[in-house]
Amino acid sequence: MRVSLSKSNRSFSAAPGQSVLDAALAAGLNLPHSCKGGNCGSCRARLLQGEISYPGAPLGLSVAEVAEGWVLLCQARARSDLLVETCETVAADQVQIKRLPCRIERSVQVCHDVMVLHLRLPAAEDFHFQPGQYVDVMLPGGRRRSFSIASPPHDSRLLELHVRRVAGGEFTERVFGGAAGNTLLNIEGPLGQFVYRAPVAAAGAAPAAPMLLIGGGTGLAPLNSIIRHVVGHAIGRRMILYWGVRSERDLYADAALRELAGKAADLRYVPVLSEASAQWRGRVGLVHEAVLQDFETLADVEVYASGPPAMVAAVRREFAARGALAERVYFDSFDYAPDVLERQRNSAATKS
Ligand SMILES: Cc1cc2nc3c(=O)[nH]c(=O)nc-3n(C[C@H](O)[C@H](O)[C@H](O)COP(=O)(O)OP(=O)(O)OC[C@H]3O[C@@H](n4cnc5c(N)ncnc54)[C@H](O)[C@@H]3O)c2cc1C
Ligand code: FES
Repeated sequence: MRVSLSKSNRSFSAAPGQSVLDAALAAGLNLPHSCKGGNCGSCRARLLQGEISYPGAPLGLSVAEVAEGWVLLCQARARSDLLVETCETVAADQVQIKRLPCRIERSVQVCHDVMVLHLRLPAAEDFHFQPGQYVDVMLPGGRRRSFSIASPPHDSRLLELHVRRVAGGEFTERVFGGAAGNTLLNIEGPLGQFVYRAPVAAAGAAPAAPMLLIGGGTGLAPLNSIIRHVVGHAIGRRMILYWGVRSERDLYADAALRELAGKAADLRYVPVLSEASAQWRGRVGLVHEAVLQDFETLADVEVYASGPPAMVAAVRREFAARGALAERVYFDSFDYAPDVLERQRNSAATKS
């Protein structure tokens, strides 16, 4: 089956049973996406011509959106040739997705459940990414686990990842079990369209909107890349980072962020704890609620949110009600990997 993109006049073929998104990525076209599991809605596109089917009803579209012709490309299987209109921010054909071997050069356990990995890429390979993007770590059988790049692009020889331990998790338990020094990993990337948006540089253009960065747990990773990019290039963009974690012991990057905010006049840093101890003197509660307490309107800011799906969903829902413009709310939802979601769906179907 042939899938054509109405905006870029590019086309690619999709095998029976393969999702349209996977087919696009395999053809080197980095279409917008995040969870790849039908939950977050990032891969929404309009089906202009053709017929698709889903393996199971996707959760990331409302009934009204389905009626308007929106489809989720990470779930859609082509049943005929298709013409789709995607919402690309980085032109799909301008990013080169590579599969590369890399070595875990250093791993540092920075708190009880987060390991920072430094991956060394092959010296002969160029790896260009944008601040905010992620890579997939490839597991046997073509399965993959996504991790955001926490370092900025100007440091691209060593990629920094912040890996949170998932109890019983196939890959993250391996990382905590000592898959460190000199271990080889295969990664694919750069992926995703959760990227820093540079303001339009034109005479008479409006001043760039302040950036509101909201991270939950290791959702800090892509924001760290964006912040270090903006600070490292002296872009002078105003940034406010709200970082939400449970308790003091989860603040694995607190000292580094305080130091950076102390040096960079354009960066304000607000840690928010949801289960703080009695000694904590800072902000408490859910991180998105702290933002809502501080901003009467969100109409004038650009929002970058990343981390747990529930936090991202709350940001999208509640910030819209406070005036945030949907086209200026960018998000990366740290959902389960597609094979895990499929397992969960199958086991739910067997039980019902
Ligand atoms: C675009 C994107 C970027 C991401 N970036 C990061 C990052 O920078 N740092 C980071 O730590 N994580 C990140 N994640 C989440 C990360 O990919 C998962 O935590 C990881 O796939 C878990 O792999 P695993 O093999 O250890 O666990 P799995 O073997 O996949 O899971 C084992 C069990 O744990 C549960 N589980 C799996 N994933 C999660 C989860 N995310 N939250 C809660 N329970 C879960 C499930 O019930 C599952 O049955 C990102 C996810 C996406 C989609
Ligand atoms: S719904 Fe398709 S990428 Fe999240």
